[in-house]
Order: sequence, then structure tokens, then C-alpha cells
Amino acid sequence: MPGRVPLPSSHPAAMAGRRRRRSWPLVAALSTGLLVGSAAAPAAATDDRPDRGGGHHRGQASTTVEPFGTAPDGTPVERWTLRNGDMTVRVLTYGGVIQTLEVPDAHGQVENVVLGFPDVAGYASDADPYFGSLIGRYGNRIAGGEFELDGERYQLPLNDGPNTLHGGPEGFDDRVWTATPVGDRRTAALQLQLVSPDGDQGFPGTLTTTVTYSVDRQERLTVHYEASTDAPTVVNLTQHTYWNLGGEGSGTIYDHELEIDADAYTPVDETLIPTGEIAPVEGTPFDFRDPTAIGARIRVADQQLLYGQGYDHNWVLNRDDDGAREGSDGEDELEEAAELHDPESGRTLTVSTTEPGLQFYSGNFLDGTLVGTGGSVYRQSDGLALETQHFPDSPNQPGFPSTELRPGEVYESTTVFELDN
Ligand code: GAL
Repeated sequence: MPGRVPLPSSHPAAMAGRRRRRSWPLVAALSTGLLVGSAAAPAAATDDRPDRGGGHHRGQASTTVEPFGTAPDGTPVERWTLRNGDMTVRVLTYGGVIQTLEVPDAHGQVENVVLGFPDVAGYASDADPYFGSLIGRYGNRIAGGEFELDGERYQLPLNDGPNTLHGGPEGFDDRVWTATPVGDRRTAALQLQLVSPDGDQGFPGTLTTTVTYSVDRQERLTVHYEASTDAPTVVNLTQHTYWNLGGEGSGTIYDHELEIDADAYTPVDETLIPTGEIAPVEGTPFDFRDPTAIGARIRVADQQLLYGQGYDHNWVLNRDDDGAREGSDGEDELEEAAELHDPESGRTLTVSTTEPGLQFYSGNFLDGTLVGTGGSVYRQSDGLALETQHFPDSPNQPGFPSTELRPGEVYESTTVFELDN
């Protein structure tokens, strides 16, 4: 292998699996009117007509809403249903949670392929392992919950041993977001907004975040993030859906085949903080450059797998660009990062992103104590997360791409989850 030099996206070996790696300008993947702040964003698409044709939804895209209980503080929670083509996604305003995502398998059998809870109480509980949630302000860990920015030290509350995880004890996953439907006839779409005040969970600056979920007719769920601040801060937003392409509650994901377009990953210490090293995956259980069953090497006696109790690491994606944030100048490129395939159901998930990193977490801490949407108990590796991100602990790692955001800049990030069967 030619070391860590990324192959051009046109090179047939760039994604050595079933499909060639794709890359296309961001703007091409977003329908007109979905970009936040676009004057073209239309009013609600509230087509709630009955489905036509055997569970397949070939009619217009629809974005509909229903009440869904209350948050612990009494704030009403809504559940939105985004329906288009053969895909139906249910989104809660609590945590911006993707509660269910239904798509057909190779035989046309429609099933929910993400883990979740039947009610808000599950998501509000401390036992919630971030099922389907939006994560902020900082996805993954910050060592010791502290960092320095412009000569100031900031101490965040700790919620994962000695570290701060996923934005702290009251992260964006535990907030009620304001929802606005922004779809049209072709796209089911929902915009979620949250204003996080200066000092929230110890982070500086008022952070205004907008996340748009859109579902197109090609069974693609696009997640577009934007954020701005009134003081220098750090930001790393992601989405924490747990996938099981065989269907929620159907058992482990060990037989799923995963391909990650990454020549390197970031090894961690025993508290899952990156050591700072960018290590080659070559010759390790972390080499997913060819499609490999997740269970094939998960029991290899490898120190990194021991630390994570399985896979729980950040892969350094091979990118044509440098992965640095381009902001609002439109130059960020969506590039294919990973492909997940379940041979049994025939479903394939392709993840494309503008981000430089991907956290592959094999559901190691699911321990048989949670009951999911379908009524069955979740055990270890009953789902996996593919979290597109900047690298963990970047505020303390000068060698990693920067996560700083300053007043006047716009944080932008896009990830596309495409389902095929
Ligand atoms: C992942 C993280 C894991 C674990 C999980 C939630 O994103 O990498 O270590 O904390 O979230 O249980």
C-alpha cells in the first residue's frame, strides 16, 4: 500500500469494495430551499394523505407532526414524521432524536433499522446511551474537561470518568429544539434550532445551532449543521444514531460488513482520550479498507480493543480536501467515508460527509438493561454508531484539525446517510 497518501477519488482502488468512492460538491446534494437562511425555504409541507401502494410511499414527500409527551421540565415534545419514497424517519424535538428510520430490505420488507426508546422518559434518563441524538457542543471526549482558548482556561463539568463526553451532563441531546418544517413536494425536511447560552456546560460564547434533516426520494437522509457564536469557542457536532440493518431488536451487528475509507486512526488511552498519534490501520483489527465483518476481529487480543471494549475509535478519513472547515464559502466536499452492509437483509448504508473523522462505536456499553422501541432488550453490539466528526479532544491536540469557531464565522457540516437494498 502506498502509505497514507490518499488516492484520488477517481482511482478504482480508492474504495476497494463494491462501489467506487464518490465525491461531489455539497450544493448538489441539498435540494433548493434546504440551506439554512435560504430565502427559498418554503412553508410547511403537511401532506398527510394515506400511503399509496403496499407500504411504499411513492406520492409527495410529507413532513407531519404530532404531540409526543413532555420533557422532564414540562416542555411539550413533538414527534415529526418525514416521509419520502420508501423511507420514513421519525424525529423528536427532544434531543433532535431520530427515533425510528424505516426502509425496505431486499425483499421489500419495511423495518425500522435504528435503536431507540418508545417514549421521552427513555431519552431523558441518565441511562440513555445517546440513542439517535444530536450531540453538542462537543462530540466525544475532552480530556479532563478542560482546554485553553486564546490564553483563557475553561473547565467543563465531567460526565465520563475524568473527562467530558458529548457536550457534558446536559448536552444538546437533553434539550428541546425548536422545529420548523422546510420541505417541499420533492423533499421531506425539518429544521431544528437551539440557542445555547454563553457558559452553557462551561463552554464560552452564545452558540446558535441549526440542524436540518432532509429525506429525498433516493432514500437519503441528509443532516446539515450550521452554528455561529458571539465569542471564540470550540464546536464539534454529530449525530448518534445506532444502526442495525437487520432491523431494530434483531440481534447483534457482528455479521454486518463494514468498509471505512481510512488509512489511519487515532489510538486512545485507557480513558478513551486520543494519544495524539495518527496510526496506520495496516496490519491491525482497525483496517476496514476492504469490507470486513465487524465480528471477525472484535475478539482479537489488541490493547486498543481492550480499552474500547470493542471498536470505539476515530478513523482519520482519506479525503481529497484537507478536511479543514471551509465555513460558508461552499468549498466543503461530501466524500464517501464508510459503507455498512448486512448480507442477511441485503440493506446497505453509505455514509458521506464533509468531516475529517468517523467514530465507529460497536455498541460496547449496551448491557441488557434497556428496552427498545420494539419491546426487546438491547445487549452488547445490538447496534453500532457511525459518528462523523472532528477528532476527539481536538482542543488539546494541536496536531488535529481545529475545532475553534469565532464570531463572524459559520460552522457548517454535512453528512448523508444513504440506504440501498
Ligand atoms: C460513543 C462513545 C462511546 C460511548 C457512547 C455512548 O460516541 O465513543 O465511548 O460513550 O458514545 O455510550
